[in-house]
Amino acid sequence: MKNITVATQPFSDQRPGTSGLRKKVSVFQQPHYLENFVQATFDALGGVKGKQLAVGGDGRFYNREALQTIVRLGLGNGLKKLVIGQGGILSTPAASCVIRKYGLDGGFILSASHNPGGPHGDFGIKFNTANGGPAPEKITEAIYQKSLGLDRYLTVESPDIDLDTQNRFMIGEMAIEIIDPVSDYADLMMELFDFPAIAKLLQDQDFAFLFDAMHAVTGPYAEEIFCRRLGAASTSLINCTVKPDFGGGHPDPNLKYAKDLVRIMFGEKAPALGAASDGDGDRNMILGDNFFVTPSDSVAVIAANAHLIKGYRKGLKGVARSMPTSCALDAVAKELNIDCYETPTGWKFFGNLLDAGKLTICGEESFGTSSDHIREKDGLWTVLFWLNLMAIKKISVKEIVAAHWQHFGRNYYSRHDYEEVDNKAANQLVDDLRKRFERLRGTRFGSLEITKADDFSYLDPIDNSLSKQQGIRLIFKDKSRIILRLSGTGTSGATLRLYFEKVEKNPAGMNLETQTALAQLIKLADDLFAIKKITGRSEPTVIT
Ligand code: G1P
Ligand code: ZN
Repeated sequence: MKNITVATQPFSDQRPGTSGLRKKVSVFQQPHYLENFVQATFDALGGVKGKQLAVGGDGRFYNREALQTIVRLGLGNGLKKLVIGQGGILSTPAASCVIRKYGLDGGFILSASHNPGGPHGDFGIKFNTANGGPAPEKITEAIYQKSLGLDRYLTVESPDIDLDTQNRFMIGEMAIEIIDPVSDYADLMMELFDFPAIAKLLQDQDFAFLFDAMHAVTGPYAEEIFCRRLGAASTSLINCTVKPDFGGGHPDPNLKYAKDLVRIMFGEKAPALGAASDGDGDRNMILGDNFFVTPSDSVAVIAANAHLIKGYRKGLKGVARSMPTSCALDAVAKELNIDCYETPTGWKFFGNLLDAGKLTICGEESFGTSSDHIREKDGLWTVLFWLNLMAIKKISVKEIVAAHWQHFGRNYYSRHDYEEVDNKAANQLVDDLRKRFERLRGTRFGSLEITKADDFSYLDPIDNSLSKQQGIRLIFKDKSRIILRLSGTGTSGATLRLYFEKVEKNPAGMNLETQTALAQLIKLADDLFAIKKITGRSEPTVIT
């Protein structure tokens, strides 16, 4: 092994977005691109001499090559230890679990989450800190600043390491541990949920369960947890082989992309519970027999029922949701008499609150739910929560949600995405709207009156950091909301996200189709923002 210092030039586009650095694979394949980002991260941490990190990814194209690069930069920078998931695999929640369990200083997760993979798809890398959570903005910003001034990186000339055998060995001064990527995470799940009760449910002839891994990272986790530890039939799992291009699919668990699952769950004789997870295993979609649970409702149901579940019997310290997520969770918090925090979009904003012991459960409308057991959202945790709840309640998913609405009210909710919109037009739209807040306040549109028009900003109550311009909000007198923001995770053009919410407290009005219930708000947004004109589209790319 020979240590070398490689001269390089900065790339100007390495500012991490909502969730790490995501680019087309071809961008990452440019000479020095990944090396620069990893070195900038090490520099932003003040060097990594003597530090211990984890690394693993979602198995997408370029995962293994990137991992070998990180091993070499670790060696070049004097890292003490690197813990690697066998085969280069670690789901995002499992990486968070491993960092926390082994007291590591942080880790890299190689993933572009739900973005498509393969040679023409996306690749990504995100850094998580010692608490197991995504690096907060002050670290991601420091990484970006370092990347802009980078003129060298430290690496070694050495052969690839064997990623496929569980093993411990030394290369020079650095220890490498290749671990089972699944077992630590599966053990943690057994501490939180009543596995014997779930096993009984899964083995009941009258109960059918279907999980779709979308050819992404949760495949091996689902096989271990659902089949080996809980005795589910292997027919309960579909698309569970990890493929570098996710089988050509778009590994995003929603009604549009989880096609195989949706077809079965909305067909005749559908299973009682259906679920899917995304590329890196942090997202989830929950479906009942011919029934879709919105993620905003899912986190509210979870919070309302947590006291019934083994790991949460002591009750909840508090809950949190991202700003665009529906206010269904707030109603639960009110009844439980606990705080409900409203944070900007992105899991990183929950980290401080979780570390300070202010929160137990949190969630985002974007198919993310989790608790304080780790510092990431957690797809399989959510599926296990619903299985455990069904084992206790012995009623259908639809009945669980309907009972929740009866008690707390129903928050009709939908998100409309316009993908690959011209960047300039999208930014112009947002800038123009900011200038119209004054005029919009107090304006009436039929039965709707705008009481608040602003750009959400968040003062972190723990470290007092201020995050501005986190999404435009129109809030109406009847508590309806229209929110507009630009995505921070896309890799081509701008993605415009529009979020609609309407609160219904009257049981007689709770059975409308969602888009129908929200039609007035959807029409108003189009009139006010001229979405069709600006995007040149007659309808959204994705509706969730
Ligand atoms: C999206 C979601 C956000 C989530 C993030 C990472 O970010 O909206 O809730 O935390 O992906 O999974 P966005 O593209 O909207 O910035
Ligand atoms: Zn993800």
